[in-house]
Amino acid sequence: MMTNSSLRDRRAFLKFLTGSPYIAALGGVSAAAFDTQQAATAIGDVITDPKDALDVMDFEEAAHRKVAPGHWAYMVSGTDEDGTIRANREGFKHVQLRPRRLFDATKVDTRTELWGTTYNSPIFTCPTGGEKSFHAEGELAVARATKARGTLQVLSTATSTGVEDVCQAHGQPVWYQLYAPSSWAATEKIVHRVEAAGCPVIALTVDNTTGRNSETYAAQRSRPVRGVPRPR
Ligand SMILES: Cc1cc2nc3c(=O)[nH]c(=O)nc-3n(C[C@H](O)[C@H](O)[C@H](O)COP(=O)(O)O)c2cc1C
Repeated sequence: MMTNSSLRDRRAFLKFLTGSPYIAALGGVSAAAFDTQQAATAIGDVITDPKDALDVMDFEEAAHRKVAPGHWAYMVSGTDEDGTIRANREGFKHVQLRPRRLFDATKVDTRTELWGTTYNSPIFTCPTGGEKSFHAEGELAVARATKARGTLQVLSTATSTGVEDVCQAHGQPVWYQLYAPSSWAATEKIVHRVEAAGCPVIALTVDNTTGRNSETYAAQRSRPVRGVPRPR
């Protein structure tokens, strides 16, 4: 079994490796990070501190161990038999960062302006429904995290926290993702509430108006939704 400090040392070394030009020559940073994460998970080397993450996928197994099985099944399900999730992950392996040498990259400015608001980064948190299913503080925790980083939060129609409370926790109005109900009156009611909360943008999502076939979730939806951590 690895101690926390040997685990940190190994991760620090892997971090160094993934930044190395030699890794770029072998297939690039994202490919290396993905493969080291898979190797780390395979030997049970799961992060216990966000600071140890080399790659966003390092959070996956850590979350798997925390989230109740029924909620986990929802979180990891795609459409039909998850073909698009697999295709996306495969696709991202072919996107590489091209290292540019002999440029001064000590000060990088990632700020982005969208409709009059400046964010510290173009990376934002996507809308995901019912975040309290995954963490007791749900959307409020995401609001505090995005506020701390100066980034955008997009709140789902299926939020488990009221839009007003989320805007307050975020420090400024968030964007709102809308699944429009089939009744126009109900849609107007939501839009007026979101407007009154100050949300400057509504992102209309049309993928779910007729429902979808999620086979992974359908097969596992009867699994417990609380208090059953994944066995180690
Ligand atoms: C558990 C879960 C819940 C989601 N809920 C919503 C939602 O309520 N509204 C929405 O527009 N998209 C929803 N999405 C889609 C995400 O916003 C995002 O577009 C999608 O996950 C693709 O990004 P990714 O490749 O980083 O996962 C959800 C995705 C997941 C995994």
